[in-house]
Amino acid sequence: MNRTVCVVGLGYIGLPTASFLGTKGYRVIGVDAQAHVIETINRGEIHIVEPDLDILVKSAVHSGNLRATDVPQEADVFIIAVPTPLAQPGNRPDVSFVEAATRSIAPHVRPGNLVLIESTIPVGTTTGVVLPILRAEAANGADGVHIAHCPERVLPGRVLVELVGNDRIVGGVDAESTEAAAAFYSSFVNGEVLKTDAATAEMAKLSENTFRDVNIALANELSIICDRHGIDPWQMIALANRHPRVNILQPGPGVGGHCIAVDPWFIAAAAPGQAHLISTARRVNDNKPEWVMEKIRAAAARFKKPVIGCLGLAFKANVDDLRESPALGIARRVRDEGLGELLVCEPHITANREFDLATLDDILRRANVIALLVDHTAFRGLRAEQFAGRALIDTRGVVR
Ligand SMILES: NC(=O)c1ccc[n+]([C@@H]2O[C@H](COP(=O)([O-])OP(=O)(O)OC[C@H]3O[C@@H](n4cnc5c(N)ncnc54)[C@H](O)[C@@H]3O)[C@@H](O)[C@H]2O)c1
Repeated sequence: MNRTVCVVGLGYIGLPTASFLGTKGYRVIGVDAQAHVIETINRGEIHIVEPDLDILVKSAVHSGNLRATDVPQEADVFIIAVPTPLAQPGNRPDVSFVEAATRSIAPHVRPGNLVLIESTIPVGTTTGVVLPILRAEAANGADGVHIAHCPERVLPGRVLVELVGNDRIVGGVDAESTEAAAAFYSSFVNGEVLKTDAATAEMAKLSENTFRDVNIALANELSIICDRHGIDPWQMIALANRHPRVNILQPGPGVGGHCIAVDPWFIAAAAPGQAHLISTARRVNDNKPEWVMEKIRAAAARFKKPVIGCLGLAFKANVDDLRESPALGIARRVRDEGLGELLVCEPHITANREFDLATLDDILRRANVIALLVDHTAFRGLRAEQFAGRALIDTRGVVR
C-alpha cells in the first residue's frame, strides 16, 4: 500500500480527503496557499463548516498522521483539489490553480508515484495540461508516473458519508494510471470504483452537474409559465411526477453554488457550436432572479412605505454557504434599487458584512412584502395565514 499522500488544496474537498486518509493509516502532508488555513489545521481545528469534520481533523492531526504546510513534499500519491472557477467575461474555465498546483508538486514527483486530479476540470486538462507540465518539470519527466482524473461528487453537508460511500470514476492518461488510481481509491472507498480514460472521466463529472442544471432550468421555466396561467407550479409538478417515468425537479429563485452553476460552462466553452441546450439552460437559470425581482418590484409598488423582508441568503437549504447565491444577489438588488426598507433573515449565519440580520419574527411582524428565497427547515413550518395582508413571493413553494 502507498503510505504517504500529499494533498494540495485544503478546502471543502481536500481537507475531508486529507483528514480521512490520515485516520486510515496514511501519512498525509496537506498543502495550502493560505497561512490561516495551515495554522488552523495544525491546531487540529477547521476553517470550513462540515458535519463531523472537526472530529476527523482533530484525530488525524493529533495522531501525527496529518500535517499542513505551504510547500509540497515527496510522497507516493499526490492529490490536487484546488479551485477551478470561471474567468470573466465570457464564463471561461480558469485552470490556472491546477497549473500552479501541478508546478508546485513537479519537483517532488518520482517514477512510480500517482498524481490524482480531483478538481473539476475541462475535458482534455489531464492529458493536455497536467501531463505536459509534469513531463517538462518533474525531476525525471513524467515517465513511470501514473496520472489520473478522479472527480469528486460529494454533497456539502454529507461529505464524510459520501467520500466513502459514493461510487468513484477513475480515468488515467494510460491503462496503468487508471489501474493505479483504482487500486488507491479501492483502499478506502466502499462504493464501486469505475475505470475509464481521463477525458471520459472529465466529461462524466461535467455532465452530472449539467444534467442537474438543465433539469432545474426546465422546472424554472415551467414555474414562470405556470405563473402566467395562475397555476401553482409545485402542485402541478407533484401531479406530473405521478407519471411513472417523469421526475420534474423543483423550481427556485435561480441556481447558485460553485458547481451546478459553473460546470456546464466548462462544456459550453469548449463546444460553443454544439452546446445549445446547455447554454440556454444556464441562461434560463441565470435569468430567474430577474423574474423574482420583477415580482418584488410590483409588490413593493403596492405599498406606500414598503418594508421588504428576504427570507434566506444561502445558495441552498440548510447550509451557511453564500457563494454565488441567487438569494444573496436578490437581497443586494433590493437594497441597491432602493425599493424600500430591507430586512434580511439568514438563520444559518450569525453575522454578515453587508446586511444587519433580522429574525424571522422581525420580518413576519414588520415586512409588508416578503420574498421567501431559501427552503431552510427553519421556514418550512410557515403557514399562509401568517402572511395575511402582506405580499408573499414564495420562490420555493414552502408556504402552504
Ligand atoms: N465543494 C464541493 O462540494 C465540490 C464537489 C465536487 C467537486 N468540487 C471541485 O473540487 C475543487 C476544489 O473545490 P473546493 O470546494 O474544495 O475549493 P475550496 O475553495 O474550498 O478549497 C480550495 C483550497 O485550495 C487552496 N489553493 C488554491 N491554489 C492553491 C495552490 N496552488 N496550492 C495550494 N493550495 C491552493 C485554497 O487556498 C483553498 O484552501 C474544485 O475544482 C471544485 O469544483 C467541489
